[in-house]
Amino acid sequence: MFDVKKEMDFSSAHEGLIVGVFDKSEKFSGPLENLDKQFEGQLTELVKAGDISAKYKNINKVHSFGKIGSKRIWFVGLGKEKEFSFEKLSEALGKVFKAVKGSKLQEIAVFLDSFTSEKVDELEAAHAVSEAFALSTYQFNGYKQKSNEPEKKVEQVTVYSENYDLEDIKASLTVGHAFGKGTNSARTLVNIPGNLLTAKDMANYALELAAKYSFEVEILDKEEIEKLGMGAFLAVNQGSTEPPKMIVLKYQGKEQWQDVIGLVGKGITFDTGGYSIKTKAGIVGMKSDMGGAAAVLGAMEIIGELRPEQNVVAVIPSTDNMISGNAFKPDDVITAMSGKTIEVLNTDAEGRLVLADAVTYAKHHGAEYLVDVATLTGGVITALGLHTTGAMTNHETLYEQVLEASMEAGEPIWQLPLFEKDKERVRNSKVADLNNSPGSEGHAIVAGAFIGEFTEGTPWVHLDIAGTSTTSREHDLGPAGATGVMTRTLALFVERFEPIK
Ligand code: BES
Ligand code: MN
Ligand code: ZN
Repeated sequence: MFDVKKEMDFSSAHEGLIVGVFDKSEKFSGPLENLDKQFEGQLTELVKAGDISAKYKNINKVHSFGKIGSKRIWFVGLGKEKEFSFEKLSEALGKVFKAVKGSKLQEIAVFLDSFTSEKVDELEAAHAVSEAFALSTYQFNGYKQKSNEPEKKVEQVTVYSENYDLEDIKASLTVGHAFGKGTNSARTLVNIPGNLLTAKDMANYALELAAKYSFEVEILDKEEIEKLGMGAFLAVNQGSTEPPKMIVLKYQGKEQWQDVIGLVGKGITFDTGGYSIKTKAGIVGMKSDMGGAAAVLGAMEIIGELRPEQNVVAVIPSTDNMISGNAFKPDDVITAMSGKTIEVLNTDAEGRLVLADAVTYAKHHGAEYLVDVATLTGGVITALGLHTTGAMTNHETLYEQVLEASMEAGEPIWQLPLFEKDKERVRNSKVADLNNSPGSEGHAIVAGAFIGEFTEGTPWVHLDIAGTSTTSREHDLGPAGATGVMTRTLALFVERFEPIK
């Protein structure tokens, strides 16, 4: 798929050569000087005339008239160098890769040096190329009898550099590609409808990952879940004909099983709301209520590929939330694995219930740090909109590590408070230790507070992706539908993780 080469004269034949242009002067300078030479300075003339635009994300296709080996050059504007960033580079690359795909090219070359700047070095640029390529060309084919898969897609990308060590660039391309592919796997899991992705299917998927990457794996079935007393998880599954699965994957990258990171993902394969039933508009799209689980599985795929020196346990409680004569009801009182009793006030607040037992179980497997990811509340959309993932924590230092990873991954998160008064609201029940729905004011916060009750002192970050896990609009780095959000953040967080003393 990706190939790296040193080439000074651009003589190799390609269907298209991708070149970045910074908005700095009217003259081609730096890495582009050499390319301009092949055209006897004509490219500079085109820039002057405005036929090649350096405006951010502008794309100009120029025929090479046999001056170089590539048939055409696709110039992509990168804007002002001062305002440049990895994130901006990724989007610009995504846009041009989509255009190339639309033009049915099967083979392209990228002139890496033209995308580097003081802000983004060659290794980051290489990562951006392979990651953005995977993300932007991702497509979910769906189930139409007539496939809408294009007959032609780009199969080969050659990355040219005049100035850098090719082995290093190759390594970065591999990493970026793993990040892109892991995110795409998460997207696919979310895009598959609930009838075709049950808890059992999710467990089978985890088994495949485990086999491929030699993870230790444990899939708890209903009987084992009962034996362990996971009453909160079981309550949510009670109305379903599909048995629940508690999915556990372990990756050990250190000699000893210590400093263990627990990644916990909400895996509701479909959320009807239960007896606190959703509206007919609100229920559509609820196949995506396992976006947290998908992000965790996508991150595990990246971890399996890159094998960092870290220890990770992934825990995914998976079930649908259905209605029947057996279903749990408002007013029911249930007992979680930790022993805490919960008064159910709303069966649609099911995510925090399954996560309560998953967090307890992650600790049981030795997790000393916890990050949970969940499509948890409509409230987070009201608070933060559709671009920003909501975060809560009981440990600022751990939060900083997650925040840094998210910024680097280009997946913005924003912290919401967790004050004593918020915690009091979930502890307010006449009949039980906790209630699962203290009212709609600030309900992203109380949902987080509820999960926090089960961390019992373990450093923890909660990520609410209800607004960010899917999008109704096509974007430069992917189509409408699942975004795979937090896959890259989790993987980067794990890779960079430093145990907290
Ligand atoms: N899965 C939903 C949250 C959700 C809403 C995800 C919209 C994606 C888009 C969650 O289980 C839920 O139903 N939350 C309720 C909580 C309420 C009953 C306290 C909500 O947000 O309305
Ligand atoms: Mn719900
Ligand atoms: Zn839900």
